[in-house]
Amino acid sequence: MTTHLNVTTHSFTDGNAQAVALAERIAERLRHALAERGHATVAVSGGSTPKDFFARLSQEALDWQHVQVTLVDERWVPDSDERSNARLVKSLLLQHQAAAATFVPLYTGAATPEEGLAVAAARIDALPSPFDAVVLGMGDDGHTASFFPGGDHLAAALDLEGHARVLPMHAPGAGEPRITLSLPTLLDTRALYLLVTGEHKRELLADVRLGLDTAKDYPVRAVMTQQRVPVAVYWCP
Ligand code: 6PG
Repeated sequence: MTTHLNVTTHSFTDGNAQAVALAERIAERLRHALAERGHATVAVSGGSTPKDFFARLSQEALDWQHVQVTLVDERWVPDSDERSNARLVKSLLLQHQAAAATFVPLYTGAATPEEGLAVAAARIDALPSPFDAVVLGMGDDGHTASFFPGGDHLAAALDLEGHARVLPMHAPGAGEPRITLSLPTLLDTRALYLLVTGEHKRELLADVRLGLDTAKDYPVRAVMTQQRVPVAVYWCP
């Protein structure tokens, strides 16, 4: 028996069409928030998949001066490092029209994510709640944000009743130490998107949908099976 999932999948023929569609969707969300409340907040992922989406979104005409952009997770490196998600967002999203947006980083310059945790959490706490949109990605191992299989704070990060807003994460597949918003923090949003490409990731998500045993250790399962916020998957080959 499969559980009903609150997930809708939008499939596109290529990455360009996918990036355009998601950029238009997020821009629409931000415009709506600006019209309703005078400010808007979006949390985005790093990695390679969102690059075209960032470039597209940066060209959307909206009142970026009142938009705050933060990250769903960060590798614990300064933005001079090419693996920094802040570096990626600054170079690809915070340009053109979006250059006027305010970026709220998770990396603090402390030696470890544990040492930087309180400052990073205070930055997230200072943002208006809920987010207007959260854009997740997914790795080939089923991780999303920094919810890595075998992560040292994975259970705490996925605890829907947990109170931690932000957590450090160390995991074999993570490379450097990470910091991540917790699942309840990510779900504190008006809209949730999962941007993924390729056959492998499509099959992985299909396994999660079917509730297969092979999918039980994929951390993305916690996002797909929660009932708090509908998930919109944006997929292309
Ligand atoms: C990160 C992420 C991460 C990412 C996936 C997918 O900082 O690494 O935010 O969760 O979304 O690893 O990465 P790709 O887009 O490179 O496949």
